[in-house]
Amino acid sequence: MAYETLIVEIEDNVALIRLNRPDALNALNSTLLGELSKALAAADKDDAVRCIIITGSEKAFAAGADIKEMAEKGFVEMFGEDFFAAEAEAIIRTRKPIIAAVSGYALGGGCELAMACDFIICSDTAKFGQPEINLGIVAGLGGTQRLTRFVGKSKSMDMHLTGRFMDAAEAERCGLVSRVVPAKDLLTEAKKAGAKIAEKSVLTAMVVKECVSRSYETTLREGTLFERRAFHALFASEDQKEGMAAFLEKRTPQFRDK
Ligand code: HXC
Repeated sequence: MAYETLIVEIEDNVALIRLNRPDALNALNSTLLGELSKALAAADKDDAVRCIIITGSEKAFAAGADIKEMAEKGFVEMFGEDFFAAEAEAIIRTRKPIIAAVSGYALGGGCELAMACDFIICSDTAKFGQPEINLGIVAGLGGTQRLTRFVGKSKSMDMHLTGRFMDAAEAERCGLVSRVVPAKDLLTEAKKAGAKIAEKSVLTAMVVKECVSRSYETTLREGTLFERRAFHALFASEDQKEGMAAFLEKRTPQFRDK
């Protein structure tokens, strides 16, 4: 499928979705987020895709929601269309693992998009920020909630109230990103991580994703019960039998996603 604001390639069972509005530093407008929703749904349905990577350009993952598109809107319009609610849902409804590969600016909605993915690998040039306060607004794609859960209240308040940017070293230190790599290696490293995930059973990977995601949405007791039941349920899968048999027979497992 051809997109106006995205470039999508599928290689070795990994879908690479590249945000492509270079003139606006990949600012997230309705077209881009609408297309991203469609591309994620298509990747989720496609048996050839086992993992998804979302990336931007070297200069910007995304510099936020598109300020030009939002500037003249009023409350009634924003509320009436529930601005970007469906698009935010589409990201978290995606069941296959999504890696955000971030280089350059990931600001406002760009930082929020990266955080809505399952984990973030960034380049040493990455800059994260929630500078919405400078525009007289607050984050609207989950930033005040996710950043706080990921890095704690103090740093989240600091980021949202001062609007300052965080560099890659700080992002790794505080657990916002899983790894920092040299800018020139970003895509190679993200694809390597994607390939590792693609080797696994998609069924199991989706259950793992549900369990870890649940930890941000429920109490420890409920979350551990959810995990235990998921663990039990996987014993109904062929891939559990295959994974354990392969270990015992000292061979590589052949998962069939069943
Ligand atoms: C629309 C944007 C944009 C944005 C950059 N551009 N960010 N357009 N929306 N968020 C455009 C610029 O207008 C400019 O277009 C071109 O991209 C290059 O940007 P420059 O500013 O010239 O580049 P530079 O000097 O290198 O500065 C980079 C920057 C700066 C630091 C990232 O662009 C910046 O501060 N951008 C805004 C960041 C921001 O406030 N994000 C939060 C948005 S609100 P022209 O046509 O002039 O060349 C948000 C809310 C989310 O995200 C909630 C949604 C529900």
